[in-house]
Amino acid sequence: MHQMPQRLTFLRQWLANPLMVGAVLPSGRFLARLMTQAIDQDTGSVLELGPGTGVFTEALLKRGLVPEQLTLVELDERFANFLSRRFPGARIVQGNAARLSAAGVGRDVTYSAVISGLPLLSMPTRTIFRIVEGVARRLGPSGNLYQFTYGARCPIAHAILERLGLEASLLGTVMWNLPPASVYRISRTRVDPKVTSASEPHVAADAHTALINKQNLTVMCWEGERVSRQ
Ligand SMILES: C[S@@+](CC[C@H](N)C(=O)[O-])C[C@H]1O[C@@H](n2cnc3c(N)ncnc32)[C@H](O)[C@@H]1O
Repeated sequence: MHQMPQRLTFLRQWLANPLMVGAVLPSGRFLARLMTQAIDQDTGSVLELGPGTGVFTEALLKRGLVPEQLTLVELDERFANFLSRRFPGARIVQGNAARLSAAGVGRDVTYSAVISGLPLLSMPTRTIFRIVEGVARRLGPSGNLYQFTYGARCPIAHAILERLGLEASLLGTVMWNLPPASVYRISRTRVDPKVTSASEPHVAADAHTALINKQNLTVMCWEGERVSRQ
């Protein structure tokens, strides 16, 4: 991987357009360390969303995990193929993190930790809801989701966290990353039977749940796998 020329190109683009938040640049090793510092071989199964070229995956293996503990969900086919060659033994799923069941990541496995390199800042609120809800359903009672962001606050809206019985805390900010990035740990505030029960078919169809996103005042109606704007 020739990361230095890639980083310089990214720096030029980023200086020209600081709001370019969806760009794909491999994270640096300090960020990878912060993202993975609470995980080791005793953690159990780990789900990684949006692994890209596998910077965080490699950090997890350096921390003593074995590839068999890892399930990686990557949307991009080329990255998924690359990951399959780079990490034989890990389960590589080419699919959408917002549709984990459709991608083949069922709820039969409970994950002790979820690492996300997904560019949430460039995603619509309803997609973020689907992703976090899917994670919450697969996370063990004391499991955590680790998400990094280039933004100034947690990229998951408070209303979404609250609805799913989750809370975010800032683990730290890595200035030696390009661009600087912050890592949030998302953990449960309560065990929500609607979210954690493997037998529940998502949210009951007759129990539409209104979620008010305080950021853009969009009201969403939660209905099975579909979320529609009202
Ligand atoms: C900013 S890159 C991060 C890559 C890597 N984790 C890192 O930090 O270097 C985001 C990655 O998420 C993947 N991605 C974006 N949307 C996704 C989705 N809905 N489901 C799964 N992967 C997705 C992209 O293909 C890309 O590999």
